[in-house]
Amino acid sequence: MSAMMTTTADAQASPTHTPSAPGSADFDLDVWSRARLQQVEQALDRWVTADVPLGLSHGAPAQLVEAMRYAVLDGGKRLRPLLVLAAHYAVCHGASSAQGISTQDIALRAACAVELIHAYSLVHDDMPCMDNDVLRRGKPTVHVQFGQASALLAGDALQALAFEFLTPQDGKVPPSIQARLCALLARAAGSAGMAGGQAIDLASVGLPLTESQLRQMHELKTGALLQASVMMGAHCSTPNAQALEGLQAYGAAMGLAFQVVDDILDVTADSTTLGKTAGKDADNNKPTYVSLMGLQASKAYAQQLLRQSLHALDATGLAHTEALRALADMVVNRAH
Ligand code: IPE
Ligand code: IPE
Ligand code: MG
Ligand code: MG
Ligand code: MG
Repeated sequence: MSAMMTTTADAQASPTHTPSAPGSADFDLDVWSRARLQQVEQALDRWVTADVPLGLSHGAPAQLVEAMRYAVLDGGKRLRPLLVLAAHYAVCHGASSAQGISTQDIALRAACAVELIHAYSLVHDDMPCMDNDVLRRGKPTVHVQFGQASALLAGDALQALAFEFLTPQDGKVPPSIQARLCALLARAAGSAGMAGGQAIDLASVGLPLTESQLRQMHELKTGALLQASVMMGAHCSTPNAQALEGLQAYGAAMGLAFQVVDDILDVTADSTTLGKTAGKDADNNKPTYVSLMGLQASKAYAQQLLRQSLHALDATGLAHTEALRALADMVVNRAH
């Protein structure tokens, strides 16, 4: 669904949206995130290893695991894991376990799984056959550090590992939830999501895309995984239809806003701040929101999408959307 289609009018009707969720006025995203980010880091460190969980075969080759860990650990904003956990928080507030099963553990697995898909997408995005970038998260890119073949394989292996995270054999994630999470993630990562968007991106070099073509590219290459993060967080338990519909619309608007802002920052920020090479889109002749509508209009559009995403949260009927609100604000008003 296009984020633009449904709620632009709403957003324009309310240019200064005031968050309305109880307690949101004094909500502190940093405080909320701190322990959760620590849990995510620890889980990634523990799970992205050469160890074989069931001890049935030899572990993975050390050099491949080294490249995977290099790609995943020590860097990144961890936005997607936070979105998973924030959606879970919104849906499960005060009821985070059902039938003895902790949905918090499931949400942590989902959070890490999405981050692995994201990390894999970055490794491949930076390769010479794609954006040909040498800097990522303030470090040399994976192919610069380990060679192209290792980068390719590290990306492949991270993708597979994401689905292992979602399908533990210890009975702690009910099969129906495993299936739902895998389906959401596979769809967002594949040809109708991130990989499809990346294909459009590569095929669009040097072309003057229309606004709707550019929007479709961005919704797929970046928006789909961000929206899936929200939906996966919600599906760690049993959300109602109204909540799901609102969260879907929130994810669409916020996800598109994220890539609009990524386009803006490529022009306005420096490489040190970004931890990746600034000015790369113009160098690679990529169509972006800035090249299509200019800097000021792109900034205004990002703010419009923020308002749209907050209105969508209002429609969820959920009482505790504070973290999702704060994350949308962070997505649009971030410096890197
Ligand atoms: C960068 O994503 C790649 C895009 C999808 C535009 P992030 O800006 O979330 O990258 P990290 O995870 O913080 O490094
Ligand atoms: C990449 O978009 C989106 C991905 C699926 C990785 P960009 O090519 O704009 O991301 P950056 O700017 O290199 O992080
Ligand atoms: Mg790219
Ligand atoms: Mg790139
Ligand atoms: Mg970019």
